Amino acid sequence: MNRETSEAVPDRSATAIVPATLASFLTHPAPRAADGVGLGIWLVDTARVGEHELEIGRAWLDGAERKQASAYVRAELRRAYEIAHAAARLVVGTSMDIPPEKVVWGRHACPGCGEPHGRPRAEGTAIEFSLSHTPGQVLVAVADVPVGVDVESHPDDPTALAGVLHPRETAEIDAAARGTLDGGRAAVRFTRAWSRTEAYLKGIGIGLGRDPHLDYLGTDAAPGRTVGEWSLWDVVVPEGYGAALALRSS
Ligand SMILES: CC(C)(COP(=O)(O)OP(=O)(O)OC[C@H]1O[C@@H](n2cnc3c(N)ncnc32)[C@H](O)[C@@H]1OP(=O)(O)O)[C@@H](O)C(=O)NCCC(=O)NCCS
Repeated sequence: MNRETSEAVPDRSATAIVPATLASFLTHPAPRAADGVGLGIWLVDTARVGEHELEIGRAWLDGAERKQASAYVRAELRRAYEIAHAAARLVVGTSMDIPPEKVVWGRHACPGCGEPHGRPRAEGTAIEFSLSHTPGQVLVAVADVPVGVDVESHPDDPTALAGVLHPRETAEIDAAARGTLDGGRAAVRFTRAWSRTEAYLKGIGIGLGRDPHLDYLGTDAAPGRTVGEWSLWDVVVPEGYGAALALRSS
């Protein structure tokens, strides 16, 4: 993966993507959120998943997922992880016409080093998917082209974190915090830039193996943008969170 910088071109006429709500693990098959690009995207409010439902979803997880789940010390992180993986099994399994517990996860090669820790994949299908979990919210997307999603909560102190981003994004967040830039509070701007960056880097499959200082995806309110062969959209999520989706054009 090269270290050339890139700059996204905002599309102010784009519309933010409204995800389908995945409200239950008990409904088979999962609803398909269809649109013209062969994409489905689902949001789960983790507070709405009852204990009985969570038990059902947990039973679908494989040994590696159970081990990973048990490694989380904070219960809310463990719960979000379990719900994300159960939801991914449900929507990916539905797309493959197999039960959720029969989905076998694998990994694409990392575009940085060639090792098998790139984008996650489901064995036996060309369907692409991406998942993201944070306490309170889970996003899962499936597509027929490489895809990345990210959901994040607004940070308490965005200026303390802003330095991880592209220098111009850092400057925009700092200016918003000082009150010298309109168009979104600093926390909103941070979350926009960070979720766009993570969705993009997860779509590529390098993740944070690529330095997030390199790509300018912007902190502005434009809900769509393109960067190279990738299209990015903001995703509509509840107050206090920000989310984005990246889709490769082919
Ligand atoms: C991918 C990554 C950005 C996720 O960050 P996060 O905000 O903590 O977590 P999210 O909930 O949004 O996403 C997690 C999911 O991303 C997916 N993911 C992990 N690595 C990924 C990659 N390289 N590409 C795309 N998706 C990836 C997995 O499905 C993961 O789910 P899991 O952790 O529950 O198994 C981060 O874990 C990362 O960058 N990892 C790779 C770092 C690296 O240096 N790799 C080496 C390159 S040579």
